[in-house]
Amino acid sequence: MILEKLQNEKVLRDPIHNFIHVQDRVILDLINTSEFQRLRRVQQLGISATVFHGAEHSRFGHSVGAYEIARRITEHFGQYYASKKLDDGLWQTDERLLTLTAALLHDIGHGAFSHTFEHLFNTDHEAMTRAIITGPTEINAVLSKVSPDFPNKVASVIAKTYPNQQVVQLISSQLDVDRMDYLLRDAYYTGTKYGEFDIDRILRTMRPTHSGIAFDIAGMHAVEDYVVSRYQMYLQVYFHPVSRGMEVLLEHLLHRAKVLYLDSHTNERNFVGPLLQPLFSGQTLSVGDYLKLDDNVFMTYISMWREHPDAILSDLSQRFLNRKPLKSIVMDDNTEPLIDNLEKLVAYTGYNPHYYTARNKAFDLPYDDYNPNVAKPRTQIDFLLGDGTHRELSKLSPLVAAIKGQVSFDKRFFFPKDMLSIEPDELFADTFKEFRSYIHNNALTTPNPES
Ligand code: NI
Repeated sequence: MILEKLQNEKVLRDPIHNFIHVQDRVILDLINTSEFQRLRRVQQLGISATVFHGAEHSRFGHSVGAYEIARRITEHFGQYYASKKLDDGLWQTDERLLTLTAALLHDIGHGAFSHTFEHLFNTDHEAMTRAIITGPTEINAVLSKVSPDFPNKVASVIAKTYPNQQVVQLISSQLDVDRMDYLLRDAYYTGTKYGEFDIDRILRTMRPTHSGIAFDIAGMHAVEDYVVSRYQMYLQVYFHPVSRGMEVLLEHLLHRAKVLYLDSHTNERNFVGPLLQPLFSGQTLSVGDYLKLDDNVFMTYISMWREHPDAILSDLSQRFLNRKPLKSIVMDDNTEPLIDNLEKLVAYTGYNPHYYTARNKAFDLPYDDYNPNVAKPRTQIDFLLGDGTHRELSKLSPLVAAIKGQVSFDKRFFFPKDMLSIEPDELFADTFKEFRSYIHNNALTTPNPES
């Protein structure tokens, strides 16, 4: 019953893929679960929307988008590369539904403001994704109807332990349905153009192989463009110093709320409402309690905390809601020696450095080839040449060779912007002068023109 194809396929209109084609009853039932609908209330880019105001799109759109890319690939593989005999390295068509469900559900455990939240409350969205798929949820009930072991199979694809590497690499590798969707989607909604690449070309040249997924050599420049796009999106959008300045505020205000909550007597704890209490009390969150949290829940409490009697919590909440990010300077050989004095200066001007400054790192490895000597070896991007041999991307592309294995890194010191307008006494006059001139010069050479 559950495996039935829908009599008439359903389509969801989508700005990236035009139509999301829903052809299976199980996919439709998964989309209709309460856990999947919650993804509408978790923004894909979180705080980046405070810099790129168009970027209000949700994890829901990204999840159905990743599904749609997986659907196109499995359709193409089924048509041109279907396995005919054991171990021919081609596509097992009975892996189709597993691939589609894993693509659809790969982000189901994402929390509100996910990275800030995970860092502060010790949660792990990947572990939560597996718990939602295998635990007492509507999603689990739908998956279990396919077969009793189907939820565990889906969870193992997401955990990358499923034996069929073709399925695993479609869902997570350096060129997977997740990354392809979020780059195109984030580029579209931020209004930046860096993330664009020729997905149609890439999908046409993608092929199953004995060891996983490879690309026809004809797709090399499209794949190269994808890697460069991803590199640029990290530097220009995901690392943006202003959204990180907002993220630091959020992290500090949640931390302040947690400290106040833990220090309060029971009767003073109701500023943290019932939905947040399991999180703040430090107990292990149940899947049910976790699923009740979304962006709206946090925003509601932060709105209320603007009037909290604690001056730090109310001030940080106001700054967050009114978009008053902490300002930042790059930490490098020039500024690093200034930072300790700067922290003292922040304290001197009346701000608690613990809540009003931060040293924040952002880093990403845009592309790397397979290296068995690192902790998490990456699946490299391989091309099939005319003679049947494979060649790794950076051996073909000088552009990719230039960024291969290079970590993009940006370390910054954050501080309240209003500090720049005060007049310090003699004690800090020199530090302050140096600091201001650095900010002035740095502003002219900032790598992020949109700040
Ligand atoms: Ni994703």
